[in-house]
Amino acid sequence: MKNGNTMTLLIPNDEDPDHAIQINYPTQSFVDNDLIVTSFKSLYRSNWGQEGDPRTSGENEQAEQQGASLLFGEILPSGVSKLLDKQHLDASTATTLVDLGCGMSKLILQSFLEYPNLNKVVGIELCRSRFLLGVNSLKILAAANPSIFNISVKDDFLELIMQSKNNSLRILRIYFGTLFNCKEALDSDIVICQTNFPSKTQPELIKLLSSFKINTRILLYHTLRDLPGVIPSGADTVYLNFNDERLAEYKQIAPMDSHFPTTWSPINGAHFDCWLKLSS
Ligand SMILES: C[S@@+](CC[C@H](N)C(=O)[O-])C[C@H]1O[C@@H](n2cnc3c(N)ncnc32)[C@H](O)[C@@H]1O
Repeated sequence: MKNGNTMTLLIPNDEDPDHAIQINYPTQSFVDNDLIVTSFKSLYRSNWGQEGDPRTSGENEQAEQQGASLLFGEILPSGVSKLLDKQHLDASTATTLVDLGCGMSKLILQSFLEYPNLNKVVGIELCRSRFLLGVNSLKILAAANPSIFNISVKDDFLELIMQSKNNSLRILRIYFGTLFNCKEALDSDIVICQTNFPSKTQPELIKLLSSFKINTRILLYHTLRDLPGVIPSGADTVYLNFNDERLAEYKQIAPMDSHFPTTWSPINGAHFDCWLKLSS
């Protein structure tokens, strides 16, 4: 249901099946994090963080063979609102956002709902059981709100399409696969990469960061300055080198002491670096 500037979403309520949970978006002024935590818990039919993680030991071994780490933890809704605000990644001036290692897709769903200016929001996830939990939840959301969303689902891909007030189409996509194959990341205003890379894959991460477009704003799990091939070029700038070739320059943005509530540090929050790509 759309009403003025606010859209009301219905989320089936597992604890009280006769009464759906209602959340109102856009929430930039609204942001009731407790309500988002509860409603996402019901939508995803699981808890937050490691308690709600469906990963199997087989998936772990497969990922290790691919040089990936399935280390898991989620940025909580209040943390997501903070990282998207004007002092950090400033989603209000972006049209595209990509989450590399999107887990169950909670972060991209919240971003999509909170920022109507984001026309395209994309996530990619290597752990199939997490990807499928996201697929299932987005199907439930679409089925409960048929006047708002069109959905298409294939084996390794889901797309939600929403018609916005000016009749333009907004798209949320999730893929099952490796983040190194995410073409949308190369052309995105914001890239979130709250993902652990084993040391042998870190040079590939440097190459990937170098391939983003100029002015991309990124959030990283790793401290960029500690990655191989990263050389300081000023107080708040670094060069990214690969095979002794200088590939890109990045500038640190956002307060250095910003902390974002996460499932493993809900009160004090975890620090993530935020960077802006300056040049190739
Ligand atoms: C710490 S979780 C982040 C979840 C969510 N983005 C958030 O910030 O709340 C990192 C996710 O990245 C995924 N991942 C790790 N390596 C990956 C790769 N090479 N390609 C795609 N996903 C990957 C993991 O399976 C995990 O679900």
